[in-house]
Amino acid sequence: MSAMANPLHFVSATITGSEQYRQGDDKSAAGRPAADRAGGGAPGGTGVRGIPWAAGCGVRRLSGGAYRGGAGTVLLAGKTAIVHGGSGAVGSAVARAFAREGAAVHLTGRTVAALEDVARRIEGDGGVAHVAQLDATDRDAVDRHADAVAAEGDGIDICFNATSNDDLQGSPLVEMAVADVTRPVIKAVTTTVVTATAAARHMIHRGSGVILVMAGGRKAIPDLGGSHIAWSALTGVCRQLAAEVGPQGVRVAWLLSPGSPSPGSPAPDDANRADEGALLTERPRYDDVANAAVFAASDWARTMTATELNLTGGLVPD
Ligand SMILES: NC(=O)c1ccc[n+]([C@@H]2O[C@H](COP(=O)([O-])OP(=O)(O)OC[C@H]3O[C@@H](n4cnc5c(N)ncnc54)[C@H](OP(=O)(O)O)[C@@H]3O)[C@@H](O)[C@H]2O)c1
Repeated sequence: MSAMANPLHFVSATITGSEQYRQGDDKSAAGRPAADRAGGGAPGGTGVRGIPWAAGCGVRRLSGGAYRGGAGTVLLAGKTAIVHGGSGAVGSAVARAFAREGAAVHLTGRTVAALEDVARRIEGDGGVAHVAQLDATDRDAVDRHADAVAAEGDGIDICFNATSNDDLQGSPLVEMAVADVTRPVIKAVTTTVVTATAAARHMIHRGSGVILVMAGGRKAIPDLGGSHIAWSALTGVCRQLAAEVGPQGVRVAWLLSPGSPSPGSPAPDDANRADEGALLTERPRYDDVANAAVFAASDWARTMTATELNLTGGLVPD
């Protein structure tokens, strides 16, 4: 398959806590622990208020063209993917790659304009993108978004978390405030648990799905503050979740990157050059990271779970 003819969808939705979504239908947050539901989880108290595309408002449909990205196998045709942190360096590359491979992509983040820039680029390539504004630490909002995405399509096939962790790097631990060390750990674990479980509930129900998380190094490097600790914690969440959802056909994996050069950097140059100790000479580009994510999300990786996709060029040997 080389092309897809999809209508293009831009959906701008702001999804926040339960205050804005307290209207009747409580199919959202289904299966979630009552203690985690806003308002104490009272039945009927945390329903979905007019998720914009369900309610028919806030939806822009543009006349779409076929994907023009070239011939070859399309790995994610017909899939529905959520990319949290979809406006970021990693998230935007992954979202574009998912769309290129035929997935309808739902981008989330806190800044709508940045998300829409990415969506427009996907549109320009003939893909399908939806945009929703939410905070990935807000469990109620993330659940409601997942519910809406699943309802709009035929469930959720892929969930990728590429949100940033508010790390503070550049100082040794002995000089850092505890809060500066723990903040990225708490944020990383929170967004991973929140986004992954929101998608997992739908995937379990359907008996298939792939949850992917962006992680970073597991090599001891000084002055990285809580960054490595956060990434280590993420992998713990992924392993735990993989053990629990694997029997229901849901896979969980994470990507390990040493960091990518800015897009457009010619190769090889200083920015692209791998760190000393790597076996290959170049760092992964964002496109390399995104293509690995495509593979991990596709059926070609159907026996891979509780595992890492190591993009370090041998810097971090297995
Ligand atoms: N860049 C790399 O090469 C690399 C390598 C290894 C690991 N990583 C990890 O990959 C992740 C993404 O990195 P990046 O370089 O792509 O970061 P980035 O360019 O700063 O993008 C971060 C994305 O997360 C969103 N975001 C942040 N906090 C959020 C929240 N509370 N709720 C919803 N969205 C939120 C941001 O949008 P808003 O601010 O608008 O919400 C943005 O879309 C990070 O965790 C990083 O540690 C990156």
